[in-house]
Amino acid sequence: MIKTIAILTSGGDAPGMNAAIRAIVRSARINGLDVYGIHEGYKGLVEGGEKFVLMGRKSVTNIISLGGTILGSARLPEFKNLEVREKAIENLKQHKVDALVVIGGDGTYQGALALKKMGFKVIGLPGTIDNDIWGTDYTIGFDTCLNTVVEAVDRLRDTCGSHQRCAVVEVMGRYCGDIAKSAGLATGAELVITSETGYDEEKVLANARAYREKGNRHPIIIVTEKITNVHALAEKIEEHTGIETRATILGHIQRGGSPTASDRILAGRLGNAAVEILLEGGNGVCVGIHSNQIITTPFEEVLTNKKNIFGEYESLIRTLS
Ligand code: ADP
Ligand code: F6P
Repeated sequence: MIKTIAILTSGGDAPGMNAAIRAIVRSARINGLDVYGIHEGYKGLVEGGEKFVLMGRKSVTNIISLGGTILGSARLPEFKNLEVREKAIENLKQHKVDALVVIGGDGTYQGALALKKMGFKVIGLPGTIDNDIWGTDYTIGFDTCLNTVVEAVDRLRDTCGSHQRCAVVEVMGRYCGDIAKSAGLATGAELVITSETGYDEEKVLANARAYREKGNRHPIIIVTEKITNVHALAEKIEEHTGIETRATILGHIQRGGSPTASDRILAGRLGNAAVEILLEGGNGVCVGIHSNQIITTPFEEVLTNKKNIFGEYESLIRTLS
């Protein structure tokens, strides 16, 4: 029988994490559970003490629209060590916590799986802008990030059109191309480059030349991070096509901002479901959304699979051929 739960946010923050925290706290309190908010992810879990803060309904008032996470986030590579996780479990037990809800990306899920294997009850919610999580069609934060990217690319399109310039735009996503591909579709970008589409500099240059020959002197090229140096690529495009080219790295701007309605609703549904699942005895699973239905998937399955959200409309994305 669960009486006390704890929540933490970990890894890269994502807009909508606060809406998820709000839903978990409210739903837990309605069901008579005590809730600890753990500050700074696994780091706070290991440090214990003042990092464990009891949360009531009032502690989540007016946070639904806030970006970032009121609990803070951190990265703690040492959490891979057994003795560090033992300290975390000791702190949870000291506070009589029966189950933990983690909100984060795949790294956070690795940590959660490790805790589950040590016998602690844990549930995961997908909170990352990258959308790189199996077991859910969409992660909390992805939609907000995508809207930020689309707005930025639209702005670049304005100025590039005026100056007859090509724009190379680097977006986040770690090794997942969902941000780049979705932004490409939503902005009509001339070229999208991700780790899934592959990268070939000669082909990029040929592609840009082809646009110039067709009279388009302001193509937009969206590139996922970690693929190439976009400033060097911009110089090459200029050199090889004669089209003036500028590179823009959108960076951490993509992680901030008030969550979209879609992210708030997703976070609320997943947060609510997490508490219900725990009360029904669930453990070691991630809560996600698939075809607009709440689903649960074991951590092991989530961490060994890769999804593709694009299906039949993948062909609409303009990639290197
Ligand atoms: P995200 O959750 O956004 O993918 P990270 O990859 O940085 O972010 O992971 C967040 C945290 O999860 C790490 O700082 C670390 O504390 C923990 N973590 C990551 N991988 C593991 C692992 N293999 N075992 C235990 N903990 C891990
Ligand atoms: O996982 C979210 C993310 O923003 C990735 O898209 C990016 O690669 C990474 O985090 C950046 O991490 P940091 O905030 O540590 O620079």
